Amino acid sequence: PATVVVLASGTGSLLNALLAAAREPGYPARIVAVGVDRDCPATAHADAAGVPHFKVGLKDFSDREAWNVALTEAVDEHEPDLVVLAGFMKILGPAFMERFGGRLINTHPALLPSFPGAHGVRDALAYGVKVTGCTVHLVDAGVDTGPVLAQEAVAVMPGDDEDTLQERIKVVERRLLAEVIAAVATRGIVSDGRKAEIPVSEHAGE
Ligand code: GAR
Repeated sequence: PATVVVLASGTGSLLNALLAAAREPGYPARIVAVGVDRDCPATAHADAAGVPHFKVGLKDFSDREAWNVALTEAVDEHEPDLVVLAGFMKILGPAFMERFGGRLINTHPALLPSFPGAHGVRDALAYGVKVTGCTVHLVDAGVDTGPVLAQEAVAVMPGDDEDTLQERIKVVERRLLAEVIAAVATRGIVSDGRKAEIPVSEHAGE
């Protein structure tokens, strides 16, 4: 199977969904390590699954670039085929992109290019959209600008607040992310830099 390092900063429920998916027989990817940038519940999920984890905290470095280089090296030690950002809340710099660009996947809780950034759910609610959702995309040098791999819509309900809406989005995200990682692990990504596709299986529909 393809090897995956997952980076997270928060609750880690998406990480947990990936760990569960990877335990299913025949799942084509294996989580080899989890990285965090702060103390957070995500590492408990890694522990429970017996997956090693490491922390590379921004505050432990003199500047952002030094942090970025250290994180790049910590991830690289595990020689992953893919790196997945599952609620990782820091922007990765050039050193990281140089090493993992093209095989670095993020999930964002909005339908990009709408509502990029750290508050995708809050911003969608504030705008008053009636439909939002989630986007799984390749990471490029911009913030939430990389080629889209998959999206799914989630309706905004009357009375939604940030927490209720984010939780409904995450239900969809957990499944979509696991599906996309499996598809990419099996069939790869074809991208011209702007658009990206996961080639359709020759056995589709069988
Ligand atoms: C997810 O909704 C993910 O899309 C979002 O953080 C949540 C992580 O949930 N990521 C971003 O907003 C990235 N800008 P989790 O900690 O329960 O896995």
